[in-house]
Order: sequence, then C-alpha cells, then structure tokens
Amino acid sequence: MAAKCARTPGESCVPRESCTPQEGACILRGVNHAPGESCASRGVVCVIGTLPGAARERRAATAGPVVARRGGGTAHDLTGAEPIGSDAMAAPIPKAELHLHIEGTLEPELAFALAEGNGLTLPFASQDDLRAAYSFQDLQSFLDLYYALMTVLRTEDDFADLADAYLTRAREQGVRHAEIFFDPQAHTARGVPVGTVIRGLARALDAAPEKHGITTRLIMCFLRDHSAGSALRTFEEARPHLERITAIGLDSAEVGNPPAKFREVFELAREAGLKCVAHAGEEGPPANVWEALDVLGVDRVDHGVRSMEDPKLVARLAADQVPLTVCPLSNLRLRVVDRLADHPLPAMLDAGLMVTVNSDDPSYFGGYAEDNFTAVREALGLDEETLRALARNSFQASFLDETTRETYLKEVDAHVF
Ligand code: ADE
Ligand code: ZN
Repeated sequence: MAAKCARTPGESCVPRESCTPQEGACILRGVNHAPGESCASRGVVCVIGTLPGAARERRAATAGPVVARRGGGTAHDLTGAEPIGSDAMAAPIPKAELHLHIEGTLEPELAFALAEGNGLTLPFASQDDLRAAYSFQDLQSFLDLYYALMTVLRTEDDFADLADAYLTRAREQGVRHAEIFFDPQAHTARGVPVGTVIRGLARALDAAPEKHGITTRLIMCFLRDHSAGSALRTFEEARPHLERITAIGLDSAEVGNPPAKFREVFELAREAGLKCVAHAGEEGPPANVWEALDVLGVDRVDHGVRSMEDPKLVARLAADQVPLTVCPLSNLRLRVVDRLADHPLPAMLDAGLMVTVNSDDPSYFGGYAEDNFTAVREALGLDEETLRALARNSFQASFLDETTRETYLKEVDAHVF
C-alpha cells in the first residue's frame, strides 16, 4: 500500500513525519478511505490524496496561461449565474484592493492543475462540476469548500503560481496596489510549513511591481474558529518572516468567535510593529466591531456592514474615519444581503464612513475588484464621482507610504471614465 515518496522529506508531503504517502488518505481530516470517495458524512468536501510524484511538468502542460478577463466585455462569473458587470471597454479606474484572501483567488483551472501536479484527485469530475458547487447559503457553507479546495496548495511554487495568477487578473481590473490576506493555519494544519507559504507568496509579490505594475503588502490572518493558543503558536512560527508581513488579520467563522478571544496575539503583533485588521460585522453583530476597535485596536475593519445596525457605532466609525473594507459581491453570494440593490453601501457613504470596495474571494464570488465597482455602480446607481471617491478611499485606507499614496491618488484624480 505505501509507496516510496518522490519528495524530499518535509516537502509538503502528507503525512509529513514519515514522508510515506498513504494511498487514499483524506488530506483534510487524516481519515482513510478510497480515492474519489467524498467525506460527505463529515459535512465537508474532502480531497483524497493519491500517490504523490505526479510531475510538475504535467501540471505545467495542463495548466495553460491564466486567461485574461477584461476586454471581453462581461465579468467572469463562476457561479453559473448571470454574468456580472458591463460591456464597457473603458480602462478601469486605478484602485487599491484591501480585502482579498489569496486562497480565495484559486480558480478551478489552477485548482485542477495543482491537484494534478501534486498527485491529488479532486472530488469533482470537471471544472464545471466544481463551479456548480459555488452556491452558498452562508459564510460557513463557503468556508467548507474554501478550506477543502486550498488543500491542493502544497509547495512554494504552488503559492507563487497562485499569487502570480491573481496579480495578472488584478492588473486587468485596474488594481495598482493590493494588500493580500493569507491563512497560515489552513496550511500548517496540513503539514505545509508557514515558511513555504510566505516564501512562495513573497516570490510572486516581489516580482509584481516590475511584472504587473502592482505594489503589494501581505496580511497574515488568524482563523477565529481555531483557539487563541493556535494563533499564538502560528505567530511565533511566523516570527522569522515578519519582515515580509505588514499586518495581522482575523477571519473565518465570525459568529461565536468574538474578537476579544485574540487580544493577546494582537498585542504581540502591535509590539512587533505590525498593523492590525479584523473581519467584524460581516455575519456577526455590531458588538464584534466595537470589540475589534476597543479590544484589538484595529486600524481597519474588514466588512463591517452590520455596523449600520448601531447608530452609536456609526458615529464612532465616522468620527475616527476607521476604514471599512466592504465586499459587495461577497455579501451577495454569502447572503448577507438578498439583492445588491439592498446593499448598505450608499447609506454607509451618506453616514460619512470611510468605505472601500473590495472582492474578498473573487474566484468564488464571481468578481474581482473592477467587477465589484461595476456591480455597485449598476445595482446602486453610483455616479462617477462616487466611484472616484471610493477609489481615493482605497488608497487613503491602505498601508502605503505617503509618497506612493500621493502618486496613486493623482492617477485616480486624472482618471477619465
Ligand atoms: N475567509 C475567506 N473569506 C472570508 C470571509 N468572507 N469571511 C470570513 N473569513 C473568510
Ligand atoms: Zn474576507
């Protein structure tokens, strides 16, 4: 049953310790069952490990280039729903992407190519089959698929390829600067060292200014449905790489996992000179936004749309101009709002909040940065000067140095719609 492992010991092999792959071991949960069989009884989609050793060359041969998205007219909607966006051919407005999970940019094409290269069999017959699963009831139903699919990411090259594919798409969407989340625990839990993740992402990000014309920052997120101890251990594992990291964040299942649980790791991060952000007020109540501000001391709130339920909180956010990284298509796909036309973005702007528009997990939610701008323009009737204000906010709310910020703001001001 056990086969000789083709990899260097320790190189993202499951199980890592012995480096002897077990045929049919469920990578996600460490359970043995037949290749191709799904872990449905566990309520998750499972990825079955087959014998490693499948050549990277095979993956390179099947992956093909990442397909350019704009210029063809319609946005790339992976959900099978109506395409989102317009046929406008005008250049997209320059913008910063401030809420982007790199694992949420994993497109089906690349997922299948990585699975092939890593000797894995996905529990989907085809890319279309996988896309058909992109129909979510809520945040948790999305997270189940998101964590399952990212198990195809194993090597430094995988993370570099993922980030490079994102940056290619981002530039076509007018993104000039991207502050990119990653979820180290989702990889270390599978035996992929945090250094592998960071080195792979950093390789693509280092090349981005020259290759794609995009500046970047990395934000290391902790999974709030894991323990505070796990977050602390992950932070210590990442310490040798902190020069690559600009900020820490908090994501995953919000309800039942309030920000205060992570007070200690946020204190450590701030002592280490890092900025702090946290998802709050996405599915969770306004109390989570208060805690993110007052207990974690965040510099930005990710999502924050439910803040609108609490007038005192709105007043606080407006007075302090705390940036809220709003993700309209995500809110639609995860049913935070029933229709985009119901989105609170206009009310947030009217209340004087520092709002930005972002894409969250664009591969899953049917749209990258410009697609989100286009969607809110169309659904909410935003005029050009409001779109320009949103683009300006994205740079104002970024962690850029002042000189670069000013350069980008001038590009926004000079943009012709
Ligand atoms: N991780 C990836 N996307 C997320 C989201 N929208 N909310 C919380 N955690 C996430
Ligand atoms: Zn998010």
